Amino acid sequence: MSILTPPPETIAAREGYFGDFGGQYVPEALSGALSQLVDAWGDARNDPAFEAELDDLRRNYGGRPTPLYRAGRLSEEAGVEVWLKREDLAHTGSHKLNNVVGQALLTRRMGKPRVIAETGAGQHGVATATAAALFGLECTVYMGAEDCRRQRLNVVRMQLLGAEVVPVESGTRTLKDAINEAMRDWVTNVDSTHYLIGSAMGPHPFPTLVRELQKVISVESRQQFAAQAGGVPDAVIACVGGGSNAIGSFADWIEVDGVELIGIEAAGEGVGSGRSAATISEGRQAVLHGSRSIALVDDDGQVRPAHSVSAGLDYPGVGPEHAHLAASGRGTYLAATDEEALFGFRRTSELEGIIPALEPAHAVGWLLRHGRAHLGDGARVVLTMSGRGDKDVDEVVEVAGWDVGVDRAFGADTAAGGADVTVADPARQGEQGVAPGDAP
Ligand SMILES: Cc1ncc(COP(=O)(O)O)c(C=O)c1O
Repeated sequence: MSILTPPPETIAAREGYFGDFGGQYVPEALSGALSQLVDAWGDARNDPAFEAELDDLRRNYGGRPTPLYRAGRLSEEAGVEVWLKREDLAHTGSHKLNNVVGQALLTRRMGKPRVIAETGAGQHGVATATAAALFGLECTVYMGAEDCRRQRLNVVRMQLLGAEVVPVESGTRTLKDAINEAMRDWVTNVDSTHYLIGSAMGPHPFPTLVRELQKVISVESRQQFAAQAGGVPDAVIACVGGGSNAIGSFADWIEVDGVELIGIEAAGEGVGSGRSAATISEGRQAVLHGSRSIALVDDDGQVRPAHSVSAGLDYPGVGPEHAHLAASGRGTYLAATDEEALFGFRRTSELEGIIPALEPAHAVGWLLRHGRAHLGDGARVVLTMSGRGDKDVDEVVEVAGWDVGVDRAFGADTAAGGADVTVADPARQGEQGVAPGDAP
């Protein structure tokens, strides 16, 4: 028996495995709620009314289908043809609503009046608070105190939407700690509460459920690519935190030969630096947050802190299906550093007029720096722009030290139009940061 084989007591949940990864490693108190969720999802999938309501909400509330956009100037700089799947244009500004609307419908089917969620970047929290407002559910969102600081805009958005935001002060005060607190709440309030997990992770059925709800990204992009570009791309690229946008971006392509699936994790200060969140690149098999997958662990098997400039990727685990795609060789998992992400953030803004969230900026940064060498000149790629970057602007200015000239814009020149907001070149200022036009 391989050490990857699940222990006998979990064999019953075999359907929740992806190869050797997945399962249901939870306290007894939660197994009833997970079975209820499996049943609710099974019923809903066979109910045309559920599908019709989900489809209507996706279109008329959520703004789907999101466009597939050929990013000409980014393509020129990258040396490969870049098609952006514009999840940043979906309602609430990221892919997170795809999952949340489906789970909110299931919450209603299960007759539960309350949802809880964890959030890192705040995008899943905002999406959950949005769906809670829409369905009249009580909503509590757990968020690491460090993430509350760096994603303040989203904290205010959640509060405006009527959610209670609970800052979590334990551990590294980031996503992992928020999940721990949400799990505690769920165990205590399981009869009234659905834990609306925000990524393709956690105990079965969450990784499958979230994958199926996010699959709409790749179902659309496959049709759109065929219609707009013709044929299939050489690669589909997405950033990976817990893995929901990446698995949704990959799902409909998995069976398509010749399409490389590239997940980009956050390398923080570099793979091997001790300050990274590149779970698949650096991690080992472990059980974390209810399933067997890969996690960043120390020599004693304890989960070690992750680091990334982006709150949404700052997580020491990854969903089990990604662990399986990596182990089986179907997926390629690479990493981009904080600096590469900031470079991607800046160049997407300057070249395309799209300010990306820091999470997908990792994928863009990797593509600009390494895409041509990895894929070959002129390769065609679909890259999921999983969210917009409004939430990150303050943090980026602080971290990168960029002078955006706000004082000038609102100072003496205001009478002359006040639109004089320039992005100074930090290289010229001798500041640490990423200069526009840095060679890949
Ligand atoms: C815009 C955006 N992209 C990606 C992620 C990472 O999560 P996941 O790997 O589940 O897509 C987040 C997480 O908050 C996010 O806000």
